This record gives sequence, C-alpha cells and structure tokens, in this order.
Amino acid sequence: MDLVLEGKTALVTGGEGGIGRAICSRFAREGANVLSADLSRHSARQADIRFVEYDVTSEQSAAAVFAALAGEWDRLDILVNAAGIEIEKTIEDTSLEEWNRIFAINVTGTFLTSKYALPMLRHSSGASIINFGSYDGFIADPKLAAYCATKGAVHALTRAMACDHGPEGIRVNAICPGYVDTPMLASFFGEHADSEAQKKAARDVHPLRTYGQPEDIANLVNWLASDEARYASGQLWVIDGGLSAQVQQMRL
Ligand SMILES: NC(=O)c1ccc[n+]([C@@H]2O[C@H](COP(=O)([O-])OP(=O)(O)OC[C@H]3O[C@@H](n4cnc5c(N)ncnc54)[C@H](O)[C@@H]3O)[C@@H](O)[C@H]2O)c1
Repeated sequence: MDLVLEGKTALVTGGEGGIGRAICSRFAREGANVLSADLSRHSARQADIRFVEYDVTSEQSAAAVFAALAGEWDRLDILVNAAGIEIEKTIEDTSLEEWNRIFAINVTGTFLTSKYALPMLRHSSGASIINFGSYDGFIADPKLAAYCATKGAVHALTRAMACDHGPEGIRVNAICPGYVDTPMLASFFGEHADSEAQKKAARDVHPLRTYGQPEDIANLVNWLASDEARYASGQLWVIDGGLSAQVQQMRL
C-alpha cells in the first residue's frame, strides 16, 4: 500500500493533546517525519514521533524552534496548528486575562507558528497548513463565548492566509470539528454535575448519534496534508457527525 506522506516533514502544535496525538500517529504511519510541538511531553509516546517543547504564544519560542528545525530539515511540508484551549464561560464571567489568554493560544499561536514556518514551507513542492477552527466558529454553544470568538478568528485568518500564500504553492485550510472525544471534551463534561447523562445527551443530539474520535479528525487532516488534496485550499472543513446540519428545534 502506498504511504501518502512518504518523505514529507510535519510539525504538529498541540501534538500531545487528544487530536494532536492521533494526527502525529497517522502522519508517522503514512511515512512522514513528525515533530510534536507542545508545552510538555505526554508520558507514553511513540518512538518514531519526535518532541520539542514549544509555547505557541511566545515569539521567542517560535524563533528558537524553527531555527533549530531549519538546521536539520531542508524544508517543512506540513504544519498543523492544533494547540488550543477552551474556556466555558459567558463574556460576563470571563476576565480580561482569560480572554487574552485564549486569544494568545488559539489565534496568536496560529499566526506566530505559521509566520515562522513560512520560510521552510516555501521550500516544499506541496506545502499544506492545517489550522484548527471549530463548528463553534459558525454557531455558538452556550457559555463558550471567548472560545467561539477565537474560532471565528481562525476561520477568517485561514482564508486570508490561503489568499496570500496560494501563489507561493502553500495551501491553507481549517478543520472545524464538532464534539470529539479528547481531554478537552472530558473537561467540558466534567464541569456538569451528571456528566454521563450529559455525554448521552450530547451523543443523541447528533444525526449519527455519536460524537467523533480523534482518529476521525486525523483522517481528514491526513488527506488535506497529502498531495491528493492539491486543489483544496482556503476552506473550512466541518466534521461533526451531521450536528450543524440539523435544525435543533426539530428535536424538541
Ligand atoms: N475536542 C473537541 O471537541 C474539539 C472540537 C472542535 C475543535 N477542537 C480543536 O481541536 C484542537 C485540539 O483539541 P483537543 O481536543 O485535542 O484538545 P486537548 O486539550 O486534548 O489538546 C490541546 C493541546 O494543546 C496544547 N497547548 C495548550 N496551550 C499551548 C501552548 N501555549 N503552546 C503549545 N501547546 C499548547 C495542550 O498542551 C494540549 O496538548 C484545538 O484547537 C481545539 O480547539 C476540539
């Protein structure tokens, strides 16, 4: 069987998180050289996935990571901006510090990492940047105000980057998941008194009656990273088990 990413190099921010780990594993299985860039390393890790300590909010950290990478790899083919956090609050309950923090990670992190990756991506003959938006960038879940705002910003940034860097042969897309079974979702459910009932309710509201697994997201990321997706750019790819296709009032 052909390995679709054979010989390619990939950097995944948030590579130690639920979705990031699934992406790193899939990329490695498809033959890519993979670097997971995150705040700290997850204990049980695949030997073929390298790790670098990286804070997406820090320009110093971005400069250091990409300077080191440029000394090692002649080019970067794939950048996945998956680092992200969620704050479960209305705007009234969100402090300015929390607001600035979530924008620093979800939006500024995507900007900074992409900016520092561009010189290496330009050396690739099939460069692909994959940002992480969310279905929450289109429609709102209750008490996720700042998070929704960051994801809307990532969607707009994705389109702008695709327009600016398409002529250089760099494709830019955003994945917009619905509910995916990761530590982020666990923390969301954990805040509810009856989280098992909450999980069942969340599954049942989907047309497919389930929420996604990290591997479901990695499948789409893998395609967007590959040369098969050479004509795909500037788009926001919703993957949510049909959740946002449905008029929720019909289930009342
Ligand atoms: N899980 C979902 O339901 C869901 C839905 C829609 C979108 N998303 C998006 O998918 C992406 C991945 O989410 P996940 O569910 O895997 O979350 P996760 O919490 O499992 O992983 C997020 C990762 O980001 C890392 N991170 C946080 N701050 C960082 C920083 N300053 N620098 C570097 N790394 C940092 C964390 O250490 C963690 O490993 C996020 O952008 C998230 O917003 C997730």
